[in-house]
Amino acid sequence: MPIVVVVGGQWGDEGKGRIVDLLARKARVVARYSAGNNAGHTIINDRGEFKLHVVPAGIFYPEKTCVIGNGVAVDPEVLLGEIDNLEAKGVDTSKLFLSDRANLIMPWHKAIDLLDEKLRGDAAIGTTGKGVGPCFIDKVARRGIRVADMMEPEELVHRIRTVLDYQNRVITAVYGGEPIAFEACFEKYQEFGRRLKPYVADTQAIVLDAHHRGEYVLLEGAQGALLDLDHGTYEYVTSSVPSSTSGGAAIGIGVGPTDIQRAVGVFKSYCTRVGNGPFATELQGAIAERLRDHGKEFGRGEYGTTTGRPRRIGWFDAVAARYSVRFNGLSAMALTRLDVLDGLPSIKICTAYELDGEILRTVPASAALLSRLRPIYEELPGWTDATSEVRNFDDLPPQAQAFIRRVETLVECPAALISVGPSREQAIIVNPIF
Ligand code: IMP
Ligand code: MG
Repeated sequence: MPIVVVVGGQWGDEGKGRIVDLLARKARVVARYSAGNNAGHTIINDRGEFKLHVVPAGIFYPEKTCVIGNGVAVDPEVLLGEIDNLEAKGVDTSKLFLSDRANLIMPWHKAIDLLDEKLRGDAAIGTTGKGVGPCFIDKVARRGIRVADMMEPEELVHRIRTVLDYQNRVITAVYGGEPIAFEACFEKYQEFGRRLKPYVADTQAIVLDAHHRGEYVLLEGAQGALLDLDHGTYEYVTSSVPSSTSGGAAIGIGVGPTDIQRAVGVFKSYCTRVGNGPFATELQGAIAERLRDHGKEFGRGEYGTTTGRPRRIGWFDAVAARYSVRFNGLSAMALTRLDVLDGLPSIKICTAYELDGEILRTVPASAALLSRLRPIYEELPGWTDATSEVRNFDDLPPQAQAFIRRVETLVECPAALISVGPSREQAIIVNPIF
Protein backbone atom coordinates (compact mmCIF):
# COMPACT_ATOMS: atom_id res chain seq x y z
CA MET A 1 0.00 0.00 0.00
CA PRO A 2 1.17 3.49 -0.70
CA ILE A 3 2.65 6.09 1.56
CA VAL A 4 0.92 9.33 0.66
CA VAL A 5 2.17 12.74 1.74
CA VAL A 6 -0.04 15.81 2.01
CA VAL A 7 1.62 19.20 1.82
CA GLY A 8 0.45 22.79 1.94
CA GLY A 9 1.18 24.18 -1.50
CA GLN A 10 1.24 27.90 -0.65
CA TRP A 11 2.10 29.75 2.59
CA GLY A 12 0.20 27.54 4.99
CA ASP A 13 -3.42 27.54 6.15
CA GLU A 14 -4.65 26.03 2.89
CA GLY A 15 -7.02 23.72 4.75
CA LYS A 16 -4.71 20.71 5.10
CA GLY A 17 -6.47 19.62 8.29
CA ARG A 18 -9.73 18.81 6.57
CA ILE A 19 -7.97 17.20 3.59
CA VAL A 20 -5.94 14.99 5.93
CA ASP A 21 -9.15 14.24 7.78
CA LEU A 22 -10.71 13.02 4.51
CA LEU A 23 -7.69 11.04 3.32
CA ALA A 24 -7.25 9.54 6.77
CA ARG A 25 -10.45 7.52 6.36
CA LYS A 26 -8.51 4.91 4.39
CA ALA A 27 -5.20 5.18 6.26
CA ARG A 28 -3.99 2.99 9.10
CA VAL A 29 -1.27 5.40 10.27
CA VAL A 30 -1.33 9.19 10.16
CA ALA A 31 1.98 10.89 10.93
CA ARG A 32 3.12 14.49 11.32
CA TYR A 33 6.67 14.99 10.04
CA SER A 34 7.78 18.59 10.44
CA ALA A 35 7.29 22.04 11.99
CA GLY A 36 5.93 22.59 15.46
CA ASN A 37 3.08 24.36 17.14
CA ASN A 38 3.57 27.32 14.82
CA ALA A 39 1.24 25.31 12.59
CA GLY A 40 -2.43 24.96 13.31
CA HIS A 41 -5.29 22.99 11.85
CA THR A 42 -8.95 23.61 12.41
CA ILE A 43 -11.09 20.50 12.20
CA ILE A 44 -14.84 20.45 12.45
CA ASN A 45 -16.58 17.14 13.06
CA ASP A 46 -19.48 15.67 15.04
CA ARG A 47 -17.61 16.19 18.34
CA GLY A 48 -17.20 19.90 17.72
CA GLU A 49 -14.51 22.22 16.48
CA PHE A 50 -10.88 21.46 17.30
CA LYS A 51 -7.75 23.49 16.83
CA LEU A 52 -4.75 21.18 16.63
CA HIS A 53 -1.15 22.37 16.66
CA VAL A 54 0.85 19.22 17.36
CA VAL A 55 -1.43 16.17 17.33
CA PRO A 56 -2.08 14.75 13.83
CA ALA A 57 -5.52 15.33 12.36
CA GLY A 58 -6.10 11.55 12.20
CA ILE A 59 -6.71 11.46 15.96
CA PHE A 60 -10.50 11.55 15.52
CA TYR A 61 -10.57 8.04 14.05
CA PRO A 62 -10.26 5.69 17.04
CA GLU A 63 -8.73 2.78 15.08
CA LYS A 64 -5.88 4.79 13.55
CA THR A 65 -2.37 5.04 14.84
CA CYS A 66 -1.20 8.66 15.03
CA VAL A 67 2.47 9.58 15.06
CA ILE A 68 4.37 12.75 15.91
CA GLY A 69 7.55 12.10 13.98
CA ASN A 70 11.20 12.86 14.68
CA GLY A 71 11.03 15.95 12.46
CA VAL A 72 8.50 17.77 14.63
CA ALA A 73 9.60 20.41 17.18
CA VAL A 74 7.53 19.53 20.23
CA ASP A 75 6.49 21.90 22.98
CA PRO A 76 5.54 19.32 25.63
CA GLU A 77 3.27 21.74 27.45
CA VAL A 78 1.27 22.42 24.27
CA LEU A 79 1.14 18.72 23.41
CA LEU A 80 -0.13 17.79 26.88
CA GLY A 81 -2.71 20.58 26.68
CA GLU A 82 -4.01 19.16 23.39
CA ILE A 83 -4.10 15.62 24.77
CA ASP A 84 -6.04 16.79 27.86
CA ASN A 85 -8.50 18.74 25.72
CA LEU A 86 -9.07 15.80 23.35
CA GLU A 87 -9.54 13.34 26.22
CA ALA A 88 -11.94 15.75 27.97
CA LYS A 89 -14.06 15.76 24.79
CA GLY A 90 -14.06 11.97 24.59
CA VAL A 91 -11.36 11.52 21.92
CA ASP A 92 -9.17 8.49 22.62
CA THR A 93 -5.42 9.25 22.51
CA SER A 94 -4.16 5.77 23.40
CA LYS A 95 -2.93 5.19 19.82
CA LEU A 96 -0.91 8.41 19.70
CA PHE A 97 2.89 8.01 19.60
CA LEU A 98 5.64 10.58 20.00
CA SER A 99 9.09 10.04 18.48
CA ASP A 100 11.89 9.68 20.99
CA ARG A 101 14.07 11.52 18.46
CA ALA A 102 11.92 14.67 18.26
CA ASN A 103 13.51 17.89 19.51
CA LEU A 104 11.87 19.75 22.38
CA ILE A 105 10.94 23.40 22.45
CA MET A 106 12.50 24.70 25.66
CA PRO A 107 11.75 27.93 27.59
CA TRP A 108 14.80 29.66 26.08
CA HIS A 109 13.52 28.99 22.57
CA LYS A 110 10.33 30.90 23.24
CA ALA A 111 12.26 33.73 24.92
CA ILE A 112 14.77 33.99 22.06
CA ASP A 113 12.04 33.86 19.37
CA LEU A 114 10.40 36.97 20.84
CA LEU A 115 13.66 38.77 21.65
CA ASP A 116 15.07 38.12 18.18
CA GLU A 117 11.99 39.50 16.44
CA LYS A 118 12.29 42.63 18.56
CA LEU A 119 15.95 43.01 17.70
CA ARG A 120 15.21 42.69 13.97
CA GLY A 121 12.89 45.70 14.20
CA ASP A 122 11.56 46.58 10.74
CA ALA A 123 13.09 43.43 9.30
CA ALA A 124 11.10 41.16 11.65
CA ILE A 125 9.93 37.88 10.08
CA GLY A 126 6.55 37.99 11.80
CA THR A 127 7.12 34.61 13.43
CA THR A 128 4.44 32.92 15.47
CA GLY A 129 6.60 33.43 18.57
CA LYS A 130 6.29 29.82 19.70
CA GLY A 131 10.03 29.12 19.83
CA VAL A 132 9.95 26.87 16.77
CA GLY A 133 12.69 28.62 14.78
CA PRO A 134 15.19 28.73 17.69
CA CYS A 135 14.44 25.06 18.47
CA PHE A 136 15.39 24.01 14.93
CA ILE A 137 18.43 26.27 15.03
CA ASP A 138 19.64 24.45 18.16
CA LYS A 139 18.83 21.10 16.57
CA VAL A 140 21.18 21.93 13.72
CA ALA A 141 23.76 23.40 16.13
CA ARG A 142 23.67 20.08 18.05
CA ARG A 143 22.47 21.85 21.17
CA GLY A 144 18.97 20.41 21.09
CA ILE A 145 17.27 18.46 23.86
CA ARG A 146 15.24 15.54 22.56
CA VAL A 147 12.27 13.59 23.83
CA ALA A 148 14.55 10.65 24.69
CA ASP A 149 16.61 12.94 26.98
CA MET A 150 13.45 13.98 28.83
CA MET A 151 12.66 10.35 29.66
CA GLU A 152 15.72 10.00 31.96
CA PRO A 153 15.93 12.55 34.80
CA GLU A 154 19.75 12.25 35.06
CA GLU A 155 20.15 12.79 31.34
CA LEU A 156 17.73 15.72 31.47
CA VAL A 157 19.72 17.38 34.29
CA HIS A 158 22.90 16.88 32.31
CA ARG A 159 21.48 18.18 29.03
CA ILE A 160 19.86 21.26 30.56
CA ARG A 161 23.04 22.07 32.52
CA THR A 162 25.14 21.68 29.37
CA VAL A 163 23.13 24.11 27.27
CA LEU A 164 21.52 26.52 29.74
CA ASP A 165 24.69 28.49 30.48
CA TYR A 166 25.15 29.10 26.75
CA GLN A 167 21.49 30.04 26.23
CA ASN A 168 21.53 32.48 29.17
CA ARG A 169 24.65 34.14 27.82
CA VAL A 170 22.88 34.65 24.50
CA ILE A 171 19.69 35.88 26.17
CA THR A 172 21.48 38.39 28.40
CA ALA A 173 24.49 39.50 26.34
CA VAL A 174 23.01 39.52 22.83
CA TYR A 175 19.42 40.43 23.59
CA GLY A 176 19.54 42.07 27.05
CA GLY A 177 16.88 39.64 28.28
CA GLU A 178 16.31 37.89 31.61
CA PRO A 179 18.19 34.63 32.25
CA ILE A 180 16.24 31.39 32.74
CA ALA A 181 16.55 29.56 36.08
CA PHE A 182 17.67 25.93 36.03
CA GLU A 183 15.42 24.50 38.78
CA ALA A 184 12.06 25.70 37.52
CA CYS A 185 12.92 24.54 34.00
CA PHE A 186 14.16 21.12 35.07
CA GLU A 187 11.20 20.41 37.35
CA LYS A 188 8.70 21.39 34.67
CA TYR A 189 10.31 19.25 32.00
CA GLN A 190 10.79 16.29 34.33
CA GLU A 191 7.05 16.37 34.99
CA PHE A 192 6.28 16.71 31.25
CA GLY A 193 8.51 13.70 30.66
CA ARG A 194 6.70 11.65 33.29
CA ARG A 195 3.31 12.47 31.75
CA LEU A 196 4.38 11.92 28.14
CA LYS A 197 6.21 8.64 28.79
CA PRO A 198 3.28 6.38 27.77
CA TYR A 199 3.22 8.03 24.34
CA VAL A 200 6.95 7.84 23.56
CA ALA A 201 8.04 5.27 20.99
CA ASP A 202 10.35 4.45 18.12
CA THR A 203 7.93 5.93 15.62
CA GLN A 204 10.07 5.28 12.57
CA ALA A 205 9.63 1.56 13.21
CA ILE A 206 5.87 1.95 13.73
CA VAL A 207 5.48 3.67 10.37
CA LEU A 208 7.76 1.36 8.38
CA ASP A 209 6.35 -1.81 9.94
CA ALA A 210 2.85 -0.69 8.97
CA HIS A 211 4.06 0.13 5.46
CA HIS A 212 5.72 -3.27 5.08
CA ARG A 213 2.56 -5.01 6.34
CA GLY A 214 0.84 -3.38 3.36
CA GLU A 215 -1.06 -0.76 5.32
CA TYR A 216 -1.85 2.72 4.09
CA VAL A 217 0.26 5.46 5.70
CA LEU A 218 -0.54 9.13 5.44
CA LEU A 219 2.15 11.72 6.13
CA GLU A 220 0.72 15.02 7.22
CA GLY A 221 2.54 18.23 6.32
CA ALA A 222 2.21 21.45 8.25
CA GLN A 223 2.73 25.06 7.19
CA GLY A 224 3.22 25.60 3.46
CA ALA A 225 5.84 24.75 0.88
CA LEU A 226 6.54 28.40 0.06
CA LEU A 227 7.76 28.82 3.65
CA ASP A 228 10.48 26.23 2.97
CA LEU A 229 14.01 27.28 3.92
CA ASP A 230 15.45 26.49 0.48
CA HIS A 231 12.59 26.96 -1.95
CA GLY A 232 10.45 29.50 -0.11
CA THR A 233 10.59 33.27 0.02
CA TYR A 234 13.82 33.40 2.04
CA GLU A 235 14.39 34.97 4.58
CA TYR A 236 10.66 35.23 5.24
CA VAL A 237 10.33 31.50 5.78
CA THR A 238 10.06 29.07 8.65
CA SER A 239 13.13 27.33 10.07
CA SER A 240 11.75 23.79 10.11
CA VAL A 241 14.39 21.11 9.44
CA PRO A 242 13.21 18.96 7.75
CA SER A 243 10.89 21.30 5.98
CA SER A 244 7.21 20.79 5.27
CA THR A 245 7.78 19.96 1.61
CA SER A 246 7.17 16.45 0.28
CA GLY A 247 10.93 15.91 0.30
CA GLY A 248 11.04 16.74 4.01
CA ALA A 249 8.56 13.99 4.77
CA ALA A 250 11.01 11.14 4.27
CA ILE A 251 13.48 12.61 6.76
CA GLY A 252 10.90 13.80 9.26
CA ILE A 253 9.51 10.28 9.65
CA GLY A 254 12.46 8.10 8.74
CA VAL A 255 11.33 6.43 5.51
CA GLY A 256 13.11 6.39 2.18
CA PRO A 257 12.06 8.71 -0.65
CA THR A 258 11.14 5.65 -2.71
CA ASP A 259 8.68 4.55 0.00
CA ILE A 260 6.50 7.58 -0.76
CA GLN A 261 4.34 6.95 -3.80
CA ARG A 262 2.18 10.01 -3.96
CA ALA A 263 2.19 13.66 -2.95
CA VAL A 264 -1.01 15.67 -2.67
CA GLY A 265 -0.79 19.45 -2.46
CA VAL A 266 -3.46 21.56 -0.83
CA PHE A 267 -4.08 24.96 -2.39
CA LYS A 268 -6.59 27.63 -1.56
CA SER A 269 -8.61 29.05 -4.45
CA TYR A 270 -6.92 32.36 -3.61
CA CYS A 271 -3.80 33.05 -1.51
CA THR A 272 -3.18 33.99 2.08
CA ARG A 273 -0.08 34.64 4.09
CA VAL A 274 0.50 35.44 7.76
CA GLY A 275 3.63 37.17 8.89
CA ASN A 276 5.87 39.36 6.76
CA GLY A 277 7.52 38.75 3.42
CA PRO A 278 6.88 39.22 -0.28
CA PHE A 279 3.42 38.42 -1.61
CA ALA A 280 3.06 39.43 -5.26
CA THR A 281 -0.72 39.08 -5.57
CA GLU A 282 -1.59 40.72 -2.25
CA LEU A 283 -4.83 42.69 -2.27
CA GLN A 284 -5.90 45.64 -0.17
CA GLY A 285 -9.38 47.02 0.18
CA ALA A 286 -12.88 45.72 -0.30
CA ILE A 287 -12.18 42.38 -2.02
CA ALA A 288 -9.48 41.47 0.53
CA GLU A 289 -11.84 42.27 3.38
CA ARG A 290 -14.65 40.33 1.81
CA LEU A 291 -12.50 37.22 1.37
CA ARG A 292 -10.95 37.57 4.84
CA ASP A 293 -14.26 37.94 6.62
CA HIS A 294 -16.19 35.27 4.71
CA GLY A 295 -17.64 33.02 7.41
CA LYS A 296 -16.08 35.15 10.17
CA GLU A 297 -19.24 34.89 12.27
CA PHE A 298 -18.65 31.12 12.40
CA GLY A 299 -14.96 31.53 13.24
CA ARG A 300 -14.08 30.68 9.66
CA GLY A 301 -12.56 33.97 8.55
CA GLU A 302 -8.96 34.34 7.49
CA TYR A 303 -7.43 34.80 10.92
CA GLY A 304 -4.49 32.66 12.09
CA THR A 305 -5.33 29.46 13.98
CA THR A 306 -2.16 29.84 16.02
CA THR A 307 -1.83 33.58 16.57
CA GLY A 308 -5.23 35.02 15.62
CA ARG A 309 -3.50 37.51 13.30
CA PRO A 310 -5.52 38.64 10.26
CA ARG A 311 -4.13 36.84 7.23
CA ARG A 312 -2.95 38.81 4.24
CA ILE A 313 -5.11 38.04 1.20
CA GLY A 314 -4.35 37.85 -2.52
CA TRP A 315 -5.48 36.37 -5.82
CA PHE A 316 -4.41 32.85 -6.78
CA ASP A 317 -0.77 32.98 -7.85
CA ALA A 318 -0.38 30.32 -10.52
CA VAL A 319 3.33 31.02 -11.01
CA ALA A 320 4.12 30.31 -7.36
CA ALA A 321 1.69 27.37 -7.35
CA ARG A 322 3.28 25.76 -10.41
CA TYR A 323 6.70 26.19 -8.82
CA SER A 324 5.37 24.45 -5.70
CA VAL A 325 3.77 21.65 -7.77
CA ARG A 326 7.12 21.04 -9.42
CA PHE A 327 9.45 21.01 -6.42
CA ASN A 328 7.01 18.92 -4.38
CA GLY A 329 6.47 16.47 -7.24
CA LEU A 330 2.72 16.71 -6.71
CA SER A 331 0.52 14.05 -8.24
CA ALA A 332 -2.73 15.78 -7.37
CA MET A 333 -4.06 18.97 -5.92
CA ALA A 334 -6.87 19.65 -3.47
CA LEU A 335 -8.37 23.05 -4.15
CA THR A 336 -10.03 24.46 -1.05
CA ARG A 337 -12.46 27.24 -0.17
CA LEU A 338 -13.96 27.55 -3.65
CA ASP A 339 -17.20 28.73 -2.01
CA VAL A 340 -15.42 31.82 -0.66
CA LEU A 341 -15.22 33.10 -4.25
CA ASP A 342 -19.00 32.75 -4.77
CA GLY A 343 -20.62 36.00 -5.83
CA LEU A 344 -17.51 37.85 -6.96
CA PRO A 345 -18.15 39.55 -10.33
CA SER A 346 -14.77 38.44 -11.62
CA ILE A 347 -11.79 36.43 -10.39
CA LYS A 348 -8.14 36.98 -11.17
CA ILE A 349 -5.34 34.48 -11.54
CA CYS A 350 -1.71 35.59 -11.70
CA THR A 351 -0.14 33.95 -14.75
CA ALA A 352 3.22 35.76 -14.84
CA TYR A 353 5.18 38.52 -13.13
CA GLU A 354 6.65 41.67 -14.50
CA LEU A 355 10.02 42.74 -13.15
CA ASP A 356 11.63 45.90 -14.51
CA GLY A 357 9.89 45.50 -17.85
CA GLU A 358 10.71 41.80 -18.16
CA ILE A 359 8.12 39.00 -18.03
CA LEU A 360 8.88 36.17 -15.58
CA ARG A 361 7.16 32.81 -15.35
CA THR A 362 9.31 31.52 -12.50
CA VAL A 363 9.88 32.57 -8.90
CA PRO A 364 13.10 34.54 -8.34
CA ALA A 365 15.33 33.71 -5.39
CA SER A 366 15.91 37.01 -3.66
CA ALA A 367 13.43 38.65 -1.34
CA ALA A 368 14.43 42.03 -2.79
CA LEU A 369 13.38 40.95 -6.29
CA LEU A 370 10.33 39.09 -5.00
CA SER A 371 9.03 42.23 -3.36
CA ARG A 372 9.30 44.16 -6.63
CA LEU A 373 7.30 41.71 -8.75
CA ARG A 374 4.18 43.05 -10.41
CA PRO A 375 1.54 40.41 -11.02
CA ILE A 376 0.12 39.94 -14.50
CA TYR A 377 -3.44 38.76 -14.26
CA GLU A 378 -5.88 36.86 -16.33
CA GLU A 379 -9.43 37.83 -15.40
CA LEU A 380 -12.16 35.21 -15.43
CA PRO A 381 -15.89 35.75 -15.00
CA GLY A 382 -17.22 34.97 -11.53
CA TRP A 383 -20.42 33.07 -10.66
CA THR A 384 -23.47 34.04 -8.65
CA ASP A 385 -24.84 30.68 -7.47
CA ALA A 386 -23.65 29.33 -4.12
CA THR A 387 -21.38 26.30 -4.45
CA SER A 388 -21.49 25.06 -0.85
CA GLU A 389 -24.19 22.43 -1.53
CA VAL A 390 -22.63 21.12 -4.75
CA ARG A 391 -21.18 17.58 -4.57
CA ASN A 392 -20.45 16.84 -8.27
CA PHE A 393 -18.06 18.71 -10.50
CA ASP A 394 -20.61 18.89 -13.31
CA ASP A 395 -23.12 20.61 -11.03
CA LEU A 396 -20.78 23.54 -10.36
CA PRO A 397 -21.58 26.80 -12.15
CA PRO A 398 -19.83 26.70 -15.55
CA GLN A 399 -17.66 29.70 -14.59
CA ALA A 400 -16.44 27.84 -11.48
CA GLN A 401 -15.64 24.79 -13.62
CA ALA A 402 -13.73 27.04 -16.02
CA PHE A 403 -11.79 28.60 -13.12
CA ILE A 404 -10.74 25.17 -11.83
CA ARG A 405 -9.79 23.92 -15.30
CA ARG A 406 -7.70 27.03 -15.90
CA VAL A 407 -5.89 26.60 -12.56
CA GLU A 408 -5.14 22.95 -13.40
CA THR A 409 -3.68 23.93 -16.77
CA LEU A 410 -1.58 26.75 -15.38
CA VAL A 411 -0.12 24.82 -12.47
CA GLU A 412 0.18 21.54 -14.42
CA CYS A 413 -1.55 19.39 -11.83
CA PRO A 414 -5.05 17.85 -11.70
CA ALA A 415 -7.50 18.84 -8.97
CA ALA A 416 -8.51 15.61 -7.24
CA LEU A 417 -10.71 17.28 -4.65
CA ILE A 418 -12.49 20.60 -4.38
CA SER A 419 -13.78 21.79 -1.04
CA VAL A 420 -16.81 24.06 -0.85
CA GLY A 421 -17.28 24.44 2.88
CA PRO A 422 -15.81 23.53 6.24
CA SER A 423 -17.64 20.32 7.06
CA ARG A 424 -16.55 16.81 6.06
CA GLU A 425 -19.22 16.35 3.41
CA GLN A 426 -18.74 19.73 1.70
CA ALA A 427 -16.33 18.33 -0.85
CA ILE A 428 -16.37 17.41 -4.52
CA ILE A 429 -14.33 14.31 -5.09
CA VAL A 430 -12.99 14.24 -8.63
CA ASN A 431 -10.37 11.51 -8.28
CA PRO A 432 -10.51 8.27 -6.28
CA ILE A 433 -7.40 8.97 -4.16
CA PHE A 434 -9.97 10.48 -1.83
P1 IMP B 1 7.91 30.71 12.61
O1 IMP B 1 7.62 29.41 11.95
O2 IMP B 1 7.07 30.93 13.86
O3 IMP B 1 9.36 30.97 12.84
O4 IMP B 1 7.42 31.87 11.60
C1 IMP B 1 8.03 32.08 10.35
C2 IMP B 1 7.01 32.45 9.30
O5 IMP B 1 6.26 31.29 8.94
C3 IMP B 1 5.97 33.49 9.75
O6 IMP B 1 5.60 34.26 8.62
C4 IMP B 1 4.80 32.64 10.19
O7 IMP B 1 3.59 33.34 10.16
C5 IMP B 1 4.86 31.53 9.15
N1 IMP B 1 4.27 30.25 9.56
C6 IMP B 1 4.83 29.29 10.32
N2 IMP B 1 4.00 28.23 10.45
C7 IMP B 1 2.89 28.53 9.74
C8 IMP B 1 1.68 27.82 9.46
O8 IMP B 1 1.44 26.69 9.87
N3 IMP B 1 0.77 28.47 8.68
C9 IMP B 1 1.01 29.70 8.17
N4 IMP B 1 2.12 30.39 8.40
C10 IMP B 1 3.06 29.81 9.17
MG1 MG C 1 -2.68 26.75 9.84
